[in-house]
Amino acid sequence: MVAAPNINDPAFLENPFPFYELGRAMSPLILPERGLAMVFGYDDATAILKDWETWSSRFPPPPEVTDPPEPMMLSSDPPRHTRLRSLVSQAFTPRMVEQLEPRIREITRELLAPALEAGECDLVAALAYPLPVIVIAEILGIPPEDRAKFKEWSDEAVASLGTALGGSGRQIRAEVFEEMREYFTRMTEERRQRPRNDLISGLVQAEQDGERLTFADLLQMLVLLLVAGNETTTNLISNTMLSFLEHPGELAKVAAEPARIPGAIEEVLRYNSPVQATVRRPTRDVEVHGKTIPANLPTVVWLAAANRDPAQFPEPLRFDVERSPNRHLAFGLGIHFCLGAPLARLEARVAYEELLGAATGFERTTEGMLPRVPTFIMRGVLELPIAFRRR
Ligand code: HEM
Repeated sequence: MVAAPNINDPAFLENPFPFYELGRAMSPLILPERGLAMVFGYDDATAILKDWETWSSRFPPPPEVTDPPEPMMLSSDPPRHTRLRSLVSQAFTPRMVEQLEPRIREITRELLAPALEAGECDLVAALAYPLPVIVIAEILGIPPEDRAKFKEWSDEAVASLGTALGGSGRQIRAEVFEEMREYFTRMTEERRQRPRNDLISGLVQAEQDGERLTFADLLQMLVLLLVAGNETTTNLISNTMLSFLEHPGELAKVAAEPARIPGAIEEVLRYNSPVQATVRRPTRDVEVHGKTIPANLPTVVWLAAANRDPAQFPEPLRFDVERSPNRHLAFGLGIHFCLGAPLARLEARVAYEELLGAATGFERTTEGMLPRVPTFIMRGVLELPIAFRRR
């Protein structure tokens, strides 16, 4: 029996991979005394994510909550999930997202200009954090002066993510939730009066077209888009630089041939997955490798462990920007497959086309462990000070 590690400990967050190796050998780990089960293998993870009828995304609210709201898309099953997803999926198709490329490039150039001038920056503060916030804010139709608020709200919501799984996370503070609610109430009122060409107006429209989307649903959708899209993409952009710094030979290949950037980003998604795990609830007793996971026991699906499963990925510990095929699970699979995947891929590609096109000689300017995003669900650093030379 492996002693379950403290999954929010900084050392674990720095290097969770030995735990995944151990776990894979024993998968599934069923720990009723800790109130959870865990799976680590690629085949198990894919089977679970594809079978939403057996493996629900919906968790019963705690008994003290008397009038629970309907769950958000990410935490709902069909038919509710299907209905909610159809309302927003139009805005995030690869075709829709492609149209954003010139604007994303413009924002990226503006953000990078002072860093290129200085020859150094904290990559998180300079680019990886602001880029996705500005882009999603523009898609939704949120004015620039309110962006700083989003960072606060997004951080708050991410900090609350670990709670359900016994992490050090906590509930969203009531006053912050109230602030978000008031803000979005005002935004949607404005759009109801004067619709614009933005996603909030589209969602308000859907709400007006009958019973399809309640105000509570709309609010949850906005929060979900902010939370799901910001921190994850920030981590993808900074994890890409970290992976390059650790593997200079791979960076040199990509810098020499920018057409390799998309492949490199897929490899970062596999090797340093921004979202390490998700969770499902078995709706009945389920047998996995001869062991029974009892009905309703929350089951952690370690996407990051599946992404290093040698049965699926030859030499899984090798960071290989030319890996093909690379069917990683970093964006999930099945009906909840990441809605924002085309957008996240585009932002990361443009970020590195610009960065590698303008600079070379990247190196870290600090030593030792970098401060990490404090939840095991995410993999990312809070700061990444680097230096470089202009090309
Ligand atoms: C690198 C960046 C990103 C990563 C690694 C990521 C990862 C994921 C994963 C693993 C899931 C599935 C969770 C599950 O099955 O339980 C998911 C779902 C989702 N993601 Fe992302 N995501 C990223 C960026 C984004 C962006 C930019 C947006 C929006 C603009 C977004 C919106 C969503 C939404 C709305 C869902 C729920 C979909 C559903 O329930 O049908 N994500 N994401």
